Amino acid sequence: MKKSVRKAVIAGNWKMNNARPQTKALIEELKPLVKDAACDVVVCVPFTNLETAVELCKGSNIKVGAQNCHWAKSGAFTAEISADMLTEMGVEYVIIGHSERRQYFGETNVTVNQRVRAALDAGLKVILCVGELLEEREQGITEEICGLQTKIALAGVSKDELKNIIIAYEPVWAIGTGKTATADQADEVNGYIRSVVEKLYGHEAAEGLTIQYGGSMNAGNCDELLAKEHVDGGLIGGASLKAKDFSVIVAAASK
Ligand code: 13P
Repeated sequence: MKKSVRKAVIAGNWKMNNARPQTKALIEELKPLVKDAACDVVVCVPFTNLETAVELCKGSNIKVGAQNCHWAKSGAFTAEISADMLTEMGVEYVIIGHSERRQYFGETNVTVNQRVRAALDAGLKVILCVGELLEEREQGITEEICGLQTKIALAGVSKDELKNIIIAYEPVWAIGTGKTATADQADEVNGYIRSVVEKLYGHEAAEGLTIQYGGSMNAGNCDELLAKEHVDGGLIGGASLKAKDFSVIVAAASK
């Protein structure tokens, strides 16, 4: 299977940005700009905007995602949101294991795996984030870190369930820093992650897996990144907050 037959997915991770008025304005601006996309288009908005986003995206080609979910179905977990609560709302995607969750909120490979399991059980599509810190790249252990994160996150995930997984390679040093991994660096690590998945699930499953790149991807550098064999889309932070910039990235992935 070649890149050309893999599904390209461009997802915006809005992070903790945009209250309801800005959410409405951004989605309304985005809808006509991405309506002819040949890739999948997703916006991952704060929990408080999910209902608004789902409503606004109805009848359009934009899908809505959340930025996390808890592993339990329900219970005494103050402030957490379950995967079932998301699907009940019409949410289709969820980001799991973002480096900001790992860095600032104590997320571990084990809890990432538990959240992945819960999301799949609820019928959500998962955007699973992996990526190394700058010191880890400098120590030459990028592959070990990304391989470990991938393997642990996918523990207990069947080959059939892998169809609902997208992996996003996001080098932590490239997030929000303006420092993009070069297209070759992104391709190399994405290719490595694919080889890890191949060992776990076989050639065909690995070849069919969408692996995004994320980290300062923008309207100016998206063409080069998305042209690479193993870069099947992007998880976009800052540039997803501007409809024009995001739509340029969507257009680049639609080529
Ligand atoms: P930036 O595009 O702002 O670097 O963020 C990337 C990211 O973390 C997406 O999840």
